Amino acid sequence: MLNKDFTQSVLILIISTVIVASFSFLVWVLPAFFYQDKLIAESSAKPLTALEVEGRDIYISEGCHTCHTMMVRPLDAEVKRYGRYSRESDDIYEFPNLWGSKRTGPDLTNLGRKYSDQWHAIHLNNPRHVVPTSIMPAYPWLFEQVLDGEDAEAKLKALRTLGVPYNDREIQQARLAVKGSTKAEALIAYLQSLGQDQGVQQ
Ligand code: HEC
Repeated sequence: MLNKDFTQSVLILIISTVIVASFSFLVWVLPAFFYQDKLIAESSAKPLTALEVEGRDIYISEGCHTCHTMMVRPLDAEVKRYGRYSRESDDIYEFPNLWGSKRTGPDLTNLGRKYSDQWHAIHLNNPRHVVPTSIMPAYPWLFEQVLDGEDAEAKLKALRTLGVPYNDREIQQARLAVKGSTKAEALIAYLQSLGQDQGVQQ
């Protein structure tokens, strides 16, 4: 066996994969469990409002994350194009994170306040109205579907069990804060919140 390498023996392939994967776990994942408190103390992340939480869920259900990332790498070219690079402490309230893996469209980490609400409304209704060459799909139904807010309280409660510091008042008012808004309004509120809690863009 010893005169073979992993391209010739399945057993050696499995053993070497396990060794490499456990090394990554030891170096990247395990230490993070020990400095959770420090990360939380350092973080400037703010919990989303009830309406923004709804918007985030729409972002996920419409599959926006399949074309857009939310993870700026600390590389010069990325920072010049997308702004401040992502820190570990930015994501303490993200369940699940929306880093994404494919950039058919631009990264949205620092999108908040780049455009007006009206620009987003036109863009979501039909991206070609503001960016003639855009290949992004149109989402006209988001303007017709109205939210009843029935799940809003439960969503905030679930996030609280995961460590997002919502108080009882915010949870009680969640349904009314959401009820009556269109899906587009919730999504735009979420898009405008992106990167806003991180202060200066750099
Ligand atoms: C098929 C891939 C695809 C999907 C799915 C998609 N987008 Fe896009 N998006 C793009 C492309 C390409 C662009 C660049 C052209 C443009 O601005 O329309 C873009 C641009 C954007 C921009 C402008 C970003 C900037 O910095 O100028 C926003 C905001 C945006 N998309 C939000 C969304 C949202 C919200 C959804 C889900 C409802 C979504 N996108 C779904 C491909 C996609």
